[in-house]
Amino acid sequence: MSLLVADQLSKTYKSTGWFRSDQSADQGVHHISFTIESGSCLGLLGESGAGKSTIGKIILGLLAPDSGKVLFQGVDLYAASRSQRKELRRDLQVVFQDSYSAVNPRMTIKQIIGEPLRNYERLSAKEEIRVISELLEMMGLRADDMYKMPSQMSGGQLQRVNIARAIALKPKLVVLDEPVSSLDMIVQKQILLHLKELKEKHGFSYLFISHDVMAIHTLSDQVAVLDNGTIVETIDAESLFDTVHPSCQRIVGAKSSDQFEGFVF
Ligand SMILES: Nc1ncnc2c1ncn2[C@@H]1O[C@H](COP(=O)(O)OP(=O)(O)OP(=O)(O)O)[C@@H](O)[C@H]1O
Ligand SMILES: [Mg+2]
Repeated sequence: MSLLVADQLSKTYKSTGWFRSDQSADQGVHHISFTIESGSCLGLLGESGAGKSTIGKIILGLLAPDSGKVLFQGVDLYAASRSQRKELRRDLQVVFQDSYSAVNPRMTIKQIIGEPLRNYERLSAKEEIRVISELLEMMGLRADDMYKMPSQMSGGQLQRVNIARAIALKPKLVVLDEPVSSLDMIVQKQILLHLKELKEKHGFSYLFISHDVMAIHTLSDQVAVLDNGTIVETIDAESLFDTVHPSCQRIVGAKSSDQFEGFVF
């Protein structure tokens, strides 16, 4: 059984107000289908406004589609009972682009990473410190960073904290919505390599959303290319640069190789 099945998902945003036009009336995503197997990463590649975050929110159970289904471990996400949903949420975590707005600035790093643990697991104070230290070290941070406030960390360090929080409960699937896009190239590379290592060592599965072909190529096993709300091609990451599909070629070719000189993984 696939870990996640997206089956013919459609979501149209109804435009309202003075600027309503026919063009904006059908913004959204249309007949989106894909599967994610356990332990693998599906990249969702598309330009700004293509509908990537809309799909991410539907998969996370945050935005009900107009039609279609999400099956997570065989359970229909939008038909699940309240208690089923609580269990599913534990296995379905997210990391967003903006590391600072994803955290409460008044909480310590220990409180931030400890939040899901306290919601779902009963650990002693000593156990919690051990688990949080381990998570920080897994992400290349120091254990005593847990006593810092978010304002005392760089964007890249704080994004590692967000990833540590997302993996604290060992979820089955992590949705990564542009997790490195606001960081500089070197930090992007380090964090992508960490995510890759976590996947290989601990068998995490990802839906990795990005507009960046090289980042998608680095982390994904398969890539779904999204254009204007529709998946135009699903392809092995290795074959991404060989695509013959015209709109894929446009999206994949949008970044010339010389722009990425030195960005070798
Ligand atoms: N809440 C909303 N109400 C109306 N339209 C929306 C809403 N959210 C998104 N849209 C529109 O739906 C389309 C897809 O948006 P979405 O945020 O999914 O794109 P995206 O691929 O994530 O873009 P980006 O790379 O810029 O984050 C866009 O045209 C956007 O303007
Ligand atoms: Mg987005």
